[in-house]
Amino acid sequence: MIRVEDLHRHFGGFRAVDGASLTIETGSITGLIGPNGAGKSTLFNVIAGVLPPTSGRVFMDGEDITGLPPHALFHRGLLRTFQLAHEFASMTVRENLMMVPGGQAGETILNTWFRRGRIQREEAELRRRADEVLDFLTIRHLTHEKAGNLSGGQKKLLELGRTMMVDAKVVFLDEVGAGVNRTLLGTIGDAIVRLNRERGYTFCVIEHDMDFIGRLCDPVIVMAEGKVLAEGAADAIMRNEDVIEAYLGTGLKNKVKAERAGGAA
Ligand SMILES: Nc1ncnc2c1ncn2[C@@H]1O[C@H](COP(=O)(O)OP(=O)(O)OP(=O)(O)O)[C@@H](O)[C@H]1O
Ligand SMILES: [Mg+2]
Repeated sequence: MIRVEDLHRHFGGFRAVDGASLTIETGSITGLIGPNGAGKSTLFNVIAGVLPPTSGRVFMDGEDITGLPPHALFHRGLLRTFQLAHEFASMTVRENLMMVPGGQAGETILNTWFRRGRIQREEAELRRRADEVLDFLTIRHLTHEKAGNLSGGQKKLLELGRTMMVDAKVVFLDEVGAGVNRTLLGTIGDAIVRLNRERGYTFCVIEHDMDFIGRLCDPVIVMAEGKVLAEGAADAIMRNEDVIEAYLGTGLKNKVKAERAGGAA
């Protein structure tokens, strides 16, 4: 679905993405992991058209989409969520969802005068769709809550919900699980799996929680210092010496050690 070829994104002299090449297969839930500052979010930003690349190419279904603006990619079904949720705080949860699809009839003054019936029909349809999404994510009880009042985890769910208001093909999730409690993380994980199986969404998921990655993702791609360091099944990746080395001093090494000790016992 997505092919990235020798992608670079430099900030001044700093090579945040430094020649990354990778493939995201159609129908997969691909994990993207790596230490802080590895260039994961920057890679997402370039793929999703938020940042232009310094050099390199991005293809979607074989077509060159390098440097296309986010709205053009949105229309092709390529969506991303941000590491920090960006909801409209003073609007309700349902209103936030209803904001997502572009090009509604209500957007111009003329339309408001002449096409009232059509606008009302479209709004009703949007509301129905939003409520479906809220049910899917098990947050129907938050329908009328102001988005600004949601917990961090609930905001992440809302982010995921926004991708469901349109017919997405490939969704890039940047740390949807960060700061989210176990129960909610489970809900988010279930929603991702269901969207993948039932609606055929392809996902690329950045996440630091290795349990979450291990449960959801195959394959897992590891980035370090702007490059792809390794790719493979989650369990193999967690035993890969280069990967452990890249994470040195972080929780993963200890986790792997603990797992090995457990396995040997
Ligand atoms: N706009 C920018 N200007 C300058 N440097 C930047 C910019 N954006 C990112 N960087 C740098 O690029 C490097 C990669 O950042 P990026 O956010 O892509 O990392 P990441 O892998 O997503 O890390 P994390 O896991 O902490 O979110 C970092 O050293 C960061 O400071
Ligand atoms: Mg990041």
